[in-house]
Amino acid sequence: MAGRIPQSFIDELLSRVDVIDVVDSRVKLKKTGKNYSACCPFHNENTPSFTVSPDKQFYYCFGCGASGTALRFIMEFDGLNFPDAVDKLAEQLNMEVPREASSQRDIEQEQQHQSLFKRMEAASQFFEKQLREHDQKDKAVGYLKNRGLSGKAAKFFGIGYAPPGWDGLQSELGTDKNAIKELIACGMLIEKEDGRTYDRFRDRIMFPIRDARGRFIAFGGRVLGDEKPKYLNSPETPIFQKGRELYGLYEARKIRQKLTRFVIVEGYMDVVALAEFGIHYAVATLGTSTSEHHLRRLFKIVPEVIFCFDGDNAGRQAASRAMETVLPVLSDGIQARFLFLPDGEDPDTLVRQEGKDGFEKRLNESLHLPEFLFEHVKQQVDFDTLDGKARFDKLAAPLISKMSGSTLKNLMKGKLESIIGTSSTALNSERIIGEKDQDFEFHETLAIPTHATSTRLPRNERDLKGSISGLSLLVDKAIFSLINNPSFCTQIDNIEFDPTTEKEELLQALLTKLKESPQSTSTGLLTVILPWNSSAELKHLWEQVHSIANLSSDSQASAAEIKEALKLIHLRPLMKKRYALEQLNQNKVTRSKMTTEQRASLKELDRKFSKLGRGRVTLLMEDLKINEQLT
Ligand code: UTP
Ligand code: MN
Repeated sequence: MAGRIPQSFIDELLSRVDVIDVVDSRVKLKKTGKNYSACCPFHNENTPSFTVSPDKQFYYCFGCGASGTALRFIMEFDGLNFPDAVDKLAEQLNMEVPREASSQRDIEQEQQHQSLFKRMEAASQFFEKQLREHDQKDKAVGYLKNRGLSGKAAKFFGIGYAPPGWDGLQSELGTDKNAIKELIACGMLIEKEDGRTYDRFRDRIMFPIRDARGRFIAFGGRVLGDEKPKYLNSPETPIFQKGRELYGLYEARKIRQKLTRFVIVEGYMDVVALAEFGIHYAVATLGTSTSEHHLRRLFKIVPEVIFCFDGDNAGRQAASRAMETVLPVLSDGIQARFLFLPDGEDPDTLVRQEGKDGFEKRLNESLHLPEFLFEHVKQQVDFDTLDGKARFDKLAAPLISKMSGSTLKNLMKGKLESIIGTSSTALNSERIIGEKDQDFEFHETLAIPTHATSTRLPRNERDLKGSISGLSLLVDKAIFSLINNPSFCTQIDNIEFDPTTEKEELLQALLTKLKESPQSTSTGLLTVILPWNSSAELKHLWEQVHSIANLSSDSQASAAEIKEALKLIHLRPLMKKRYALEQLNQNKVTRSKMTTEQRASLKELDRKFSKLGRGRVTLLMEDLKINEQLT
């Protein structure tokens, strides 16, 4: 990697680019007053909470809190790291990116990579040309046609043909010593002991593999018949590391349709066939199992990843490995699902039989990680015996303790305990989930929304009022505590208030339900949530809880949280009144017109709020301002 990019250049870049253009070329924006808006590309929603301000050159989502400059947007949307995002933006503006002095070695390496990318691109063009022009092109084209591939899809994926013979590529591209040396380095030529070289890929259908920026880095080549190996892949080279790249990722983004999920499949042909049928969000690992790096990369772009496996034993095992890899990556708000295909089918064959709708139906019905996890463990024990239950606990606990998202983790723990019918000795002894039953303290920091870090939670907000203020976070927590511990309702008395957001409506609905039937269980309460979930797809219990689960990483439940949320909600009308009076009081003209009653009232309110503590006041003010902005 070359040297650092000077800050002055980044400033310059941002001053020349308009965030509106950058966003609009990826997500269609609509002008709404001074700002522009759209449905947020970073979480699922049906009404736009995502706004872009041309004045501030900034985007902000009231739903999930994603925010930043044009560069941040490119990073998040295109899944690039910072230097790559700078390069991309600079390229569009025809600006050269300066780098602070880097070592001679770095410079040389960068130059080497650049020439390897060029060689690979030339190779890809060569293969494509052979598919159009070679003497034996008919058999290659015939093979592709036979598999149902259209010319359009072949072109989109840059599919080509490596001709038979030992030196097709070499004689075209190996024009000099240096070229040959580089073609060896990028795996296209193989060097024999006597120093002579020959083409690695011969008489094969060629699938170019591109990195996230579209650079050609490797190939997969398939035989036309039944010879072995069926697929030959590029070896690891300075520009290709298998465990980091995904086939189809670049192409998936190139389609420029909003990506909300990825499905991970096994084969090149699966990706191509799915795309051909309009499922443009499939990617394949390159003959390796899915790595943590792969997953982190995908979850940077979308909140949901679906693994696709064969329904046989090997598929189950692969799924179990994938689950272990994904557990530590799963933070709250993102999810992994598992799809098992019928015996003998793969996504390629299935989508051809069932079409887009049929395959997507399978995806939509795929198992959520918690279901899969518990089902998988259950299969390994004799669940009808007490021993079996203990073993169930023992097997499930280490999996659950791998999870990083604390909300889902707590839910999983609850589920585990409800399955085994007692508390989990295994989990508790791992002391992974601490049981500190502290009273909820009001932290000043809570008043500052922590969403700047852009936790992407799929939130089903139907209107902008569901924006995140500190209060809104508290309401999240309260809802969550209540669902986890319905018995807390006995400690809550005054449930009358005027909800200003959907979530507050939900909180009230839950409290009302509990007033009527204080014995309600968590599951019973979940039925109350149903109408709040705007998407019909979200019918699964876990997802229900998941999608309203709070943003804070600490979800230790306590009744005090619920009380705190309610206390603030109850104070809101008074704060509103005080705010209005204060406005009058601040302006000379209006102040002179204030009645004695108004003055006394303001004084009284000031006194009241001064007792409340600064944190709460800031929080209420902030909530008020957000609501004011939106109405
Ligand atoms: P499969 O054997 O399942 O083949 O390999 P496939 O994808 O269904 O291929 P088609 O439909 O017969 O063309 C799945 C993936 O495993 C890797 C490739 O990435 C392949 O797409 N693989 C398979 C290899 O790398 N080498 C092989 O010899 C076989
Ligand atoms: Mn196949």
